[in-house]
Amino acid sequence: MNTVKTVRELRAAIARARSEGKRIALVPTMGNLHAGHAALVAKAGQRADFVVASIFVNPLQFGPTEDLDKYPRTLAADQAKLLEAGCHLLFAPGVEEMYPDGMDGQTKVSVPGVSEGLCGGSRPGHFDGVSTVVCKLLNMVQPDMALFGEKDFQQLAVIRKMVRDLNIPVQIFGEPTVRAEDGLALSSRNGYLSAEQRAIAPVIQRTLKQLAEQLRGGSRDFAALLEAGRQQIEGAGLRMDYLEIREALSLRPAAVEDKHLVILAAAFLGTTRLIDNLPLQLD
Ligand code: PAF
Repeated sequence: MNTVKTVRELRAAIARARSEGKRIALVPTMGNLHAGHAALVAKAGQRADFVVASIFVNPLQFGPTEDLDKYPRTLAADQAKLLEAGCHLLFAPGVEEMYPDGMDGQTKVSVPGVSEGLCGGSRPGHFDGVSTVVCKLLNMVQPDMALFGEKDFQQLAVIRKMVRDLNIPVQIFGEPTVRAEDGLALSSRNGYLSAEQRAIAPVIQRTLKQLAEQLRGGSRDFAALLEAGRQQIEGAGLRMDYLEIREALSLRPAAVEDKHLVILAAAFLGTTRLIDNLPLQLD
């Protein structure tokens, strides 16, 4: 696996793969990789012939009070994990390579609708940062497909809409969330948790599963369900950011007749913000 840091080297390596007739997949990441990322890379290897991963801790998607500075940079360990998962090329640019005119001077992509509310509500500007960097990465690599984890459910919806609205010629795949044995969704941010917090964290997933069971059982009093869910999560010692039931494709608040739903949660455990979701299809 080769690691390149400039767009020029990236394009040269992609051109070689293209000239060999290879189908190209992109897995964008911010590094500090875990088994969820490895699963994305492995899946990309099944779907395409040449797998490109990117590692870029994107300052544009962090708010002023967020964890940009303490976000772990673990390039050597990440390279080893990518190699093992079957990655062929790693693009690991610096901030100047991605934003040569600075972040204020950068043209931005803003996706209306799906990027509002939920994480977009609590992290103003976050999704503009995500859509801008993903748009740039898609233009740099020009892959046949790009793969993202379903754990960031709203992010995936934002990227799908951006690709549709801007006619970017790429196929987007959302891959199932990878979880620890106790149900906690794998996330780079789990590393911030103390042992005690780590033991509490699976309450989010447990609560989402219970809500899903009640929805499957016919319950449609969304407000009451969500209030009970919030109490359970807060009772375990977390501070709720949001707990919502939405229509899974548009992310608008769920209506009683909707069949394809997603329950989404974000909560703080100490200073660490955890998110999770559970999509469900009702008959
Ligand atoms: O999900 C992430 O790690 C990031 O938001 C992404 C998609 C790599 C964009 O920086």
